[in-house]
Amino acid sequence: MKKYGIFYASTSGHTAEAARSIAKHLNIAEEDMHDVATTAPSVLGEYETAILGSPTYGKGAMQPKMADFIDGAQSLFLKGHKLAFFGTGDDTMTDSFCSAVGDMARALSATEATQVGEFDARGYIFDNSRAEIAPGVYAGLLLDYVNHADLSEDRIARWVKTL
Ligand SMILES: Cc1cc2nc3c(=O)[nH]c(=O)nc-3n(C[C@H](O)[C@H](O)[C@H](O)COP(=O)(O)O)c2cc1C
Repeated sequence: MKKYGIFYASTSGHTAEAARSIAKHLNIAEEDMHDVATTAPSVLGEYETAILGSPTYGKGAMQPKMADFIDGAQSLFLKGHKLAFFGTGDDTMTDSFCSAVGDMARALSATEATQVGEFDARGYIFDNSRAEIAPGVYAGLLLDYVNHADLSEDRIARWVKTL
């Protein structure tokens, strides 16, 4: 089984940029980077650790292609595999900052995969996020290229060490 695969959706490019950076840190080859718009959910099962990334759009929704992918992935049995989550958002959207990260994680708990990569981050200012699982602790890596692009590289570098 291959070690790491990335599965991402991106409308305006931020999440794709984050995916490329994560790939660079973990030496993930191009062939193991999957745009979910053109990938079957069953490909998740080819990896020890599958890393899933989505922006949050609308009122806290997953990017539509990721929503479709997660719909299909929910019924997979992935016990013995690991899943990690990342997302990009805008913390001025203060009621739903990066909520897609929490929604992906919750939806895929049915697969029985082990979820890794919880992220402890300070410095965001928002009221509510479904990605928050304890005060200051998130279901995955949250990135904000709109307001804190300068912090993204450090956050990625710190997070990949936990995978
Ligand atoms: C119409 C619209 C709605 C958005 N809604 C949210 C939101 O609810 N929560 C959030 O954190 N970011 C929200 N964002 C910000 C995007 O998630 C952010 O720009 C993200 O990095 C885009 O990723 P992409 O470039 O990979 O598509 C929204 C952006 C747009 C244009």
